[in-house]
Amino acid sequence: MTEKKIALVTGSGKRLGKAIARGLADEGYAMGLHYNSSADGAQELLQDIQAEGGEATLVQKDLSDPEHAGDLIAETAEALGGPVQVLVNSASAFDADTLDSLTLETWQFLMNVNAAAPVFLMQAFARQEGLTGGGAIVNILDTQLKSASPERFSYFCGKFALDGATRLAAFELGPKGITVNAVAPGLVLPSDQTQEEFESRQEMTPIGPGLGPQDIVAAVRYLVSAPQVTGHTLVVDSGQRLMGFGNSPIG
Ligand SMILES: NC(=O)c1ccc[n+]([C@@H]2O[C@H](COP(=O)([O-])OP(=O)(O)OC[C@H]3O[C@@H](n4cnc5c(N)ncnc54)[C@H](OP(=O)(O)O)[C@@H]3O)[C@@H](O)[C@H]2O)c1
Repeated sequence: MTEKKIALVTGSGKRLGKAIARGLADEGYAMGLHYNSSADGAQELLQDIQAEGGEATLVQKDLSDPEHAGDLIAETAEALGGPVQVLVNSASAFDADTLDSLTLETWQFLMNVNAAAPVFLMQAFARQEGLTGGGAIVNILDTQLKSASPERFSYFCGKFALDGATRLAAFELGPKGITVNAVAPGLVLPSDQTQEEFESRQEMTPIGPGLGPQDIVAAVRYLVSAPQVTGHTLVVDSGQRLMGFGNSPIG
């Protein structure tokens, strides 16, 4: 009998997190589908996975309170009947602030969702007693860390912290056979732009249009299946990061 593979993806109710969760389910993982407010999207994914003969469970949590973020690991393990072998930290809050406009509230909210919650999830993941065969963690960063805009001050500070935490955790968890890597997406899905603006920005990248969720899914799938690769960030951005620091027209 082959051992059951269990994965947890945060932010599985929509967009990139949903695509990553679906991609791992297609690889045969029993899925912990975390969501916060996207209950309908997470439920839809659960039903799709089950309809295709897979296994999944829903786990809800607001990750702006990181104190209990790690509980998601135990909740997933209990519902699916084994340790979580793969953790993907995709959930993220993208609110804009600047050094001038930030408040303790915006700073703490963005640092909690983008850095503290993933860190406590990594801690809970690594502490699982049943995780004897190693495991893999993938943190979702952002290619714009290379040319971060001060218009999203706290968001990028959270991602900088998660970038550092990825490398430190990779070092610490290597002896346990746990790899810790990151994927840094480029322009995958529009956020606060119109579809037209988004497409014209994609057009400016060295490779041009075409980057989509499937490319991020492929990167995550590679990293979770590469036991000798750790502390690495796989940038999947159509070459956007090559366009220079600071004043990239893509922003
Ligand atoms: N989209 C892109 O082109 C792009 C580019 C670069 C980097 N990224 C990175 O890729 C990842 C996914 O991006 P995306 O565009 O799909 O994200 P998104 O549309 O902004 O969705 C954010 C996700 O995070 C979850 N989330 C937000 N606040 C939360 C909270 N307080 N507690 C728990 N969950 C919370 C949301 O869950 P609910 O909806 O359930 O509340 C949602 O699933 C992020 O880490 C992002 O930084 C994306």
